[in-house]
Amino acid sequence: MVTSVAPRVESLASSGIQAIPKEYVRPQEELASIGNIFDEEKKDEGPQVPTIDLKEIDSEDPVVREKCREELKNAATDWGVMHLVNHGIPDELIERVKKAGETFFELPLEEKEKYANDQAAGKIQGYGSKLANNASGQLEWEDYFFHLIFPEEKRDLSIWPKTPADYTVATSEYARLLRSLATKIMSVLSIGLGLEEGRLEKEVGGIEELLLQMKINYYPKCPQPELALGVEAHTDISALTFILHNMVPGLQLFYEGKWVTAKCVPNSIIMHIGDTIEILSNGKYKSILHRGLVNKEKVRISWAVFCEPPKEKIVLKPLPETVSETEPPLFPPRTFQQHIQHKLFRKAQQSLLSKEG
Ligand SMILES: [Fe+2]
Repeated sequence: MVTSVAPRVESLASSGIQAIPKEYVRPQEELASIGNIFDEEKKDEGPQVPTIDLKEIDSEDPVVREKCREELKNAATDWGVMHLVNHGIPDELIERVKKAGETFFELPLEEKEKYANDQAAGKIQGYGSKLANNASGQLEWEDYFFHLIFPEEKRDLSIWPKTPADYTVATSEYARLLRSLATKIMSVLSIGLGLEEGRLEKEVGGIEELLLQMKINYYPKCPQPELALGVEAHTDISALTFILHNMVPGLQLFYEGKWVTAKCVPNSIIMHIGDTIEILSNGKYKSILHRGLVNKEKVRISWAVFCEPPKEKIVLKPLPETVSETEPPLFPPRTFQQHIQHKLFRKAQQSLLSKEG
């Protein structure tokens, strides 16, 4: 059965329930891997998400510069996710972006509902919660606010939060700086593949067509966090994703067969390589499987910005320079839209199989 209206998780959480509705309970086989996120974050043994210091990314000293770029490239090759520090975006601006999002989510539910999206009608921007999209009816423990933030002429400012007043100013400035950072990262990744520095940027649509979409994820306290997930395991479809959070742990990465919990690194931005760059690089850069845990003590908020190619205009496939006789293309040509459809289809199939099993 497909549910068309999802309740806000925030209202469920504040209703005082001791047990979560069954739609939020993960399948049996997944439960064994879900632990207490605060305990998980403390663990120091085993592999850790790399931290990449971008301070010297444009150093005049070629040796220093190349060392920094090599580290970024290696993290993209090995993990596909990293904490970026000294990324050049002022901490005060980031604090304003976070404060603005927090203030919006502190508004009464009725106020936030004025910004509700309407997924059935194709109005995907705004305040929302996940709708069950497969036979299992599985839901995630989060509400969100989703909207396009760059290029500026493609924004619909009428649906942006008007409260607090700083929301639009801070978010717009953050979007501009993040767009420049994305260019810088893609140029280093291009050079790392032996391409011209502007190549990946061009392949994902350039300054006109690459879309930056912000999703503020709001994860209320969960009475049974060991049974639920804030976001189920997935890889990002984007070219790159940049994530801020309110220093409450939750993100886990599936690395070498195990779930690794990301530490909270002050003043960092988490960056994911998404499927788009994984495809263009013929798998040399990785789009890592990840998920979000919830907890019963603290609300978690994260601000993800997905840098996405246009849906139809570009056919994504491994760039010829990344393919050879010994390295055949690992991905068939697909538009971004076709890639999304392919993933939805695969997920629906998996869900059917698990029902039958
Ligand atoms: Fe993600």
